[in-house]
Amino acid sequence: MSVPRTPVTVRVPAKVNVRLAVGAARPDGFHDLANVFLAVSLFDEVTASPADGLTVTCAGPDADQVPLDRTNLAARAAEILARRAGIEPAVHLHIAKRIPVAGGMAGGSADGAAALLACDALWGLDTPRAELLDICAVLGSDVPFSLVGGAALGTGRGELLTPVEAGAFHWVFAVADGGLSTPAVFREFDRLTAGTPVPPPVAPPALLTALASGDPQALAPLLANDLQAAALSLRPQLAATLAAGTEAGALAALVSGSGPTTAFLVRDQEAAGKVAAALEASGTCRTTRTASSPAPGATVRQR
Ligand code: C5P
Repeated sequence: MSVPRTPVTVRVPAKVNVRLAVGAARPDGFHDLANVFLAVSLFDEVTASPADGLTVTCAGPDADQVPLDRTNLAARAAEILARRAGIEPAVHLHIAKRIPVAGGMAGGSADGAAALLACDALWGLDTPRAELLDICAVLGSDVPFSLVGGAALGTGRGELLTPVEAGAFHWVFAVADGGLSTPAVFREFDRLTAGTPVPPPVAPPALLTALASGDPQALAPLLANDLQAAALSLRPQLAATLAAGTEAGALAALVSGSGPTTAFLVRDQEAAGKVAAALEASGTCRTTRTASSPAPGATVRQR
């Protein structure tokens, strides 16, 4: 096995869900989803370097909120890959973090997928893509999409991916103070829907057509997130953020995944700048990011 001595850096995108349809809770505690993922041009980078043991460091504006122990999905990815290969997880993982932490944009999942790819290259394993995707699904429901990127429909608990077509779109993201726990948001969904039948989740064909068209006016009215009511119930102040973005000219506003990041679809890059400035001035969020979609999945950076 040839093992490169030089560190390997992988760039990985955040995601937004343009349609997150949630079914009833399953016996295993997960929910069946019809989850239309879109990768956006907001990236973390994970660098894997040779080391004596497994260590994780993180840098970025919210680095203090990132766990550096074995609960970090990047560390777990390295451990699982090493165990499968019968080697020690001797790697230092450095995360350059730009994706909001615990924000509903799959930042932790992104780091898991990136670490997996980086370690695979560092250790010269050349693991088949299908096996990497299997490991991603073990790591978490959103991790396979972080590896694949682009646009995809996720079924099952979100890990079974079918690529879908997507034109170019522009987005603004409003980052809230503090994160939201994904399990807590799903529990709140269960509480809010208790006693009412929850229909099987579907991705409407009209949404997929609008996504493929690249026409933001067509896509805007079709954006929907079944976790939004639960996220708003746990964090009522997000309603003011959504309203501020809409008043500033966003074509559509919704909670991203389990939140609390909110996502705003805008006409073009110029509109993105205006809506971001208005959101920052509104005092209803901590900061904003602008991005475009679709973005490629986890990719080894060429030196
Ligand atoms: O798969 P992942 O570890 O990211 O999921 C985190 C938590 O989110 C799960 O433990 C579960 O509570 C909830 N979840 C769910 N249904 C899904 C995905 C996640 O209930 N399809």
